[in-house]
Amino acid sequence: MSADVQLDNVWIRFGDFVAARDINIHIKEGEFFSFLGSSGCGKTTILRAVSGFSEPSEGRVLIGGKDMAGIGPNKRPTALIFQNLALFTLMKVWENITFSLEVAGVGKAERQKKADELLDMIALSGQGDKLPNELSGGQKQRVAIARALCAEPDVLLLDEPLSALDLKLRQHMRTELRTIQQRVGITFIYITHDQGEALTMSDNVAVMSQGKIEQVADGNTIYDSPETSFVASFVGENNLFEGKVSEISEGYAIVDTPSGSMRARNAKHNGEYQLGVGDDAFVFIRPESLKFVNGSSHDNQFSARVKQHEFEGSFWQVFFDVESARRTIKLSMVNDGANVGHDINSDVQLGFSADKAVATPVGSLADET
Ligand SMILES: Nc1ncnc2c1ncn2[C@@H]1O[C@H](COP(=O)(O)OP(=O)(O)OP(=O)(O)O)[C@@H](O)[C@H]1O
Ligand SMILES: [Mg+2]
Repeated sequence: MSADVQLDNVWIRFGDFVAARDINIHIKEGEFFSFLGSSGCGKTTILRAVSGFSEPSEGRVLIGGKDMAGIGPNKRPTALIFQNLALFTLMKVWENITFSLEVAGVGKAERQKKADELLDMIALSGQGDKLPNELSGGQKQRVAIARALCAEPDVLLLDEPLSALDLKLRQHMRTELRTIQQRVGITFIYITHDQGEALTMSDNVAVMSQGKIEQVADGNTIYDSPETSFVASFVGENNLFEGKVSEISEGYAIVDTPSGSMRARNAKHNGEYQLGVGDDAFVFIRPESLKFVNGSSHDNQFSARVKQHEFEGSFWQVFFDVESARRTIKLSMVNDGANVGHDINSDVQLGFSADKAVATPVGSLADET
């Protein structure tokens, strides 16, 4: 079975401190849903309210349409996997997986059968007699997942379960986790501060900052159409210009910046365009959408001075000083065998298309919170 999870006007306070602020989210049945945000933004706090280890100060948590108020963690159709997975080191892998059944008094033959099914599921068939220490980090992680799945939860909650693994294994486990989720078909709620994890695995992502949900959408939408300055600056890299809106037309805003007028998509929020004439605005443009103006014409152009080249194998990263821009401007270009073609300290024109740029109201930025 699988179930949907609904958070309705959820507030969580610790004394005067607000750890979760008016959270409204509907996670569909069978969805892989992630909460993405930096340390301390309230991710674990929300997960604890779903699992029943804490109750919201205000608002409701519904699982499968049922209000969970007053229902403890053992009585909820959820299972939780923590960051440090804590397998029982003296028990065999299959005994670890079926520990909850043993506690419930289920006989050995039935437990072994269940363990075999789950070992197949996590691609560790035939390895049930090993001890946890005879497994790799990634295999241990999969055993922890099987152990949580053994109780047949409707919703699996995962609190940064890959953070103890090294980078390579973490990347490998992303694919594994997604595969396991699709096989069992239950709802996964996944917490991470790693945007790569969130974007690759999830059907939908909630980006959080300081106890607040900034945006909920699929990974593509989060990356291409951020709704707030926080999301634009937190997910992926973005160049930033600041100015005032001088004109609005058909979904675009013209923003007058010290580097010239720039046309960009007017960011929507809840389906409504956010910027109007006279508003202070940020214009965001991704490094990969910025181009050298070599004769071609672009919707937007500005002058810059080349500061530095960085060679990354498949990409060149080029950095610029732009007069009156708050930060260094960055351009990424695919390495097609040619050099960047512009020396350090040379003055160049850069351009970008209005479709690739997003204008948002002035708000908080990820590296300033
Ligand atoms: N029991 C508590 N009492 C007081 N403050 C708390 C309590 N639990 C959490 N907080 C505070 O609430 C905020 C959110 O904490 P939370 O653990 O949810 O963050 P997080 O997003 O999971 O961070 P991390 O990525 O570091 O795990 C933090 O500022 C934390 O100090
Ligand atoms: Mg946490």
